[in-house]
Amino acid sequence: MDVIHSVDALRERLQREPNNVFVPTMGNLHEGHIQLVRLAKPRAACTVVSIFVNRLQFGPREDFDRYPRTLEADCEKCRAAGANVVFVPDEREIYPEPQTFVVEPSELQHVLDGAIRPGHFSGVATVVLKLFNMVRPHAALFGKKDYQQYLVLRDMVRQLALPIEIIPAETVRADDGLALSSRNAYLSPTERAEAPQLYAILQRACDAVRSGALHGMVERDAMQALAARGWTPDYVAVRRQHDLQSPTPEDRRLVVLGAARLGRTRLIDNLELDIPS
Ligand code: PAF
Repeated sequence: MDVIHSVDALRERLQREPNNVFVPTMGNLHEGHIQLVRLAKPRAACTVVSIFVNRLQFGPREDFDRYPRTLEADCEKCRAAGANVVFVPDEREIYPEPQTFVVEPSELQHVLDGAIRPGHFSGVATVVLKLFNMVRPHAALFGKKDYQQYLVLRDMVRQLALPIEIIPAETVRADDGLALSSRNAYLSPTERAEAPQLYAILQRACDAVRSGALHGMVERDAMQALAARGWTPDYVAVRRQHDLQSPTPEDRRLVVLGAARLGRTRLIDNLELDIPS
C-alpha cells in the first residue's frame, strides 16, 4: 500500500492502473469506513482512500480544530482492509490558493443539515469534486449515515456529467444501534450510553409513520422525546428519499432523518422506510 501526499505523485502512481475506485474520508477511520473499502475492493484494480479534514465544510464555530486526527492508525486499517493507495494531502495541496470557485449544490443544500450548517454542502461538494479530479475514479463510495451528503454528491455527478458511479453503502452500527461516526469519540461514557437513543427514537418514528400517524405529529413527538432525555434536537423529519422534500400522500419511499446535540456532540442518523402500496 502506498501512502501519497502530493497530487503529482498520486497522478503518477495511478497512471499504471487500468481503473480505480475511491473512498473519500476525513480520517479517524472506523468500521463504517472500512466497510466502504471492503465494498470498493472488488470493483477495480486499485482502491484509493483519501484522508483530508476539509476546512471548507466546517462552520466557524464547528469542530475543525478538535476533529480527531489519527493518521498512523488509519493507514494501518486501510492496509488491513486491502486499500492500494492512501492519499493524504495537506491543506496547501488541496487549497494552494483561496478557493474562489465553489460548487453550489441544488435545493438540497438549503434543507435539514444544510439549513443548520450554512455552506457545509458547498464545502463538501467542492472538495469532493476536486478529489475526483485528482483521483479520477470510475466509482466512489459514500455511507448512507450522511444521507443528505450522499444525495448532494449523487446529484452533483449527475448534473455535471461526471463519469463516476456513486455507490451508497448501508450505515454500520454498534451492537446497541448507535451509527458509527468519528464524532462518537467526543462522547463521555454517560453520553455514549445515551447515544443509541437517537436510533431508537427514529425507529419508533418509523413505526408510527408505518401505522399511518401524521408526519408532523411523528416529528414533534420524536423531538420531544429527545428533548425529554436531555438532547437538543435540531430536527427530526420525515422526507422522501430522492430529494428530501416533504412527501405527498403518493410518496412511498421515505426516510426519517434526525440530528441532535448530546452535550457538545452533534449526532445525525436516519432510517429509510418503504411503505408498501
Ligand atoms: O463524509 C466525509 O467524511 C466528508 O464529508 C467527505 C465526503 C470525505 C468530504 O470531505
